[in-house]
This record gives sequence, structure tokens and C-alpha cells, in this order.
Amino acid sequence: MTERSLVLIKPDGVQRLLVGRVIARFEDRGLKLVGLKLLHVSRELAERHYAIHRDRPFFAGLVAFITSSPLVAMAVEGPNAIGVVRSMVGATRPWEAVPGTIRGDFALEVAQNLIHASDGPETADSELSLWFPEGTLEYAREIDRWALAPEG
Ligand code: RTP
Ligand code: MG
Repeated sequence: MTERSLVLIKPDGVQRLLVGRVIARFEDRGLKLVGLKLLHVSRELAERHYAIHRDRPFFAGLVAFITSSPLVAMAVEGPNAIGVVRSMVGATRPWEAVPGTIRGDFALEVAQNLIHASDGPETADSELSLWFPEGTLEYAREIDRWALAPEG
């Protein structure tokens, strides 16, 4: 099933010059980029994105961190993209993330775990409308006739 997922390369990923390498992993896997931007997030957007964590003790620090410096927001598309991306990202606590995952290869601390990815179809829908209110793109990729099974 074709799905779309929201991925954020958080401020630590941008500051650590990991943007290209992280995007390359998704491209290498065959996922299609259907939205991409660099932005300095407002407090309002950060609080809406992490609204589910509003009552958690780490909420204030999380919002401060995500608004502290620019991040990269992207929309990726592909078969089972939501689960595939989560498995590529690895466990929230980087010391539990297995090597080969993005967090398992590049992160050590939960507060600086580099990346966000939608965790289910409903959150993907709401996060994509939050971060890409202008919508995402539809386009054909020549490579898909080699990388993906035909639909239908
Ligand atoms: P994300 O939402 O960023 O993709 O990460 P996740 O699903 O793997 O983890 P989630 O439970 O949704 O937590 C969101 C983000 O909050 C920060 N966090 N800090 N200090 C702490 O104990 C703590 N716990 C979570 C992390 O940056 C996590 O990615
Ligand atoms: Mg989450």
C-alpha cells in the first residue's frame, strides 16, 4: 500500500551536517521525495507538532530544542512508507537503536536523536497537513519501473 510519511531532520542533524546523508538513505531505499524544505520552526508549529507530549516533563525542552535552529522537513512516499521509515529511523532512545538505523549510527542521546518520523497513518496525515499545508507533489519517476511493482 502506498503511504506518505513526514520526516524531520531535527536541528542537531542540520548542525552536524548530516542532512545529505540522511536524505540519501531514504533515496537509496527507493522512497520518493514528495516534499522538502528547510525552515526555522515557530513555537506555535512546534507545540502543535508535539501536542501529544504537552504534559510530559520533557515538553518544554523539546519545543526549545526544535525551535533553536533550522530543521529539514520532508514528505516521503512509497509502499508501506510509514513503517519502513520508522524501521530505518530506529528506537527513540538511541542507545537502544540498532546499528544500521539512523539513530543507531548517528545518535547517542534521546534529546538529540536527530530525526522524527510519523508513527501511523493518522499521525502521518495530520503531520503532513501541518508541515505541508500547500500539499505535497505528485510526479513520475523513471526508476520506479525497476524499483517498485506496478500498482493495481
Ligand atoms: P519522534 O516523535 O521525534 O519521531 O520520536 P519518537 O516517535 O521516536 O519518540 P516520541 O515518544 O514521540 O518522543 C518525541 C521526542 O521527544 C523527545 N523525548 N525526550 N527526555 C526524554 O525522556 C524524552 N523522551 C522523548 C525525543 O526527541 C523524541 O524523539
Ligand atoms: Mg513520536
